[in-house]
Amino acid sequence: VACTGTRCTVIAEATFPLTTRRLLLRPVAVGDERALYALYSDRDVARWLSRLPAPYTRSSARRFVADAADDLARGAGCVLAMLERETDAFVGVVSLRIPALELDPWTADAGLGILGYSVVPRRWGSGFASEGAARVIAFAFDDLGLARLRATVLRANGASRRVVERLGFAIAEAGVREVPRHGGPPRLGDVYVLERHAWLRRGVLPAR
Ligand SMILES: CC(C)(COP(=O)(O)OP(=O)(O)OC[C@H]1O[C@@H](n2cnc3c(N)ncnc32)[C@H](O)[C@@H]1OP(=O)(O)O)[C@@H](O)C(=O)NCCC(=O)NCCS
Repeated sequence: VACTGTRCTVIAEATFPLTTRRLLLRPVAVGDERALYALYSDRDVARWLSRLPAPYTRSSARRFVADAADDLARGAGCVLAMLERETDAFVGVVSLRIPALELDPWTADAGLGILGYSVVPRRWGSGFASEGAARVIAFAFDDLGLARLRATVLRANGASRRVVERLGFAIAEAGVREVPRHGGPPRLGDVYVLERHAWLRRGVLPAR
């Protein structure tokens, strides 16, 4: 796929890691496969995600890393490992996808990004998802010039709702049915959107 357009060039050539006070964010790599397998094969994590293969195996993790590298090279997105700077420990993943640049795009809106995140359960409640996502939001709007970000959150996912709401997202479409990609019944969710102009107006995010 030809990499045309400035945005595409920027994401493929962006400089990583991104850093925050406690975290270093860099593209997932082969050395993360164990940690990714542990994260996404955990039922408490997987139950909230609609795009994961089920069951999630070691080869799912291997494919995940390979696909992430392809997407990054194509400028279609970045999947970043969140590492705690103090300990170098893997604490989760934060991702940004640009669906218009995917191989099989469902939208032509090249200004739209999709935000995703997961944290290893034993580190929940420490603000890592909020901190990592806030950095990726700044990257999306300031560096890539995206116009809006979107995240679909299942209605029952209280922790994730709290994260997007704190970051300034608002419900754009309530009560959507999320069909898990790899089977199972549809589930009730809400589409949250953060517009660039709203984010700029809001200024610096409140510290936790
Ligand atoms: C959602 C998730 C990423 C949050 O990670 P985290 O690092 O614990 O998030 P943070 O600490 O930044 O913020 C979580 C907030 O939710 C709150 N929270 C936790 N459980 C909650 C619940 N059941 N209901 C309501 N709020 C809840 C926390 O108290 C915290 O809010 P606070 O800072 O005001 O106290 C993590 O729970 C996870 O990995 N879940 C599984 C994967 C997932 O759901 N990904 C998102 C899909 S849309």
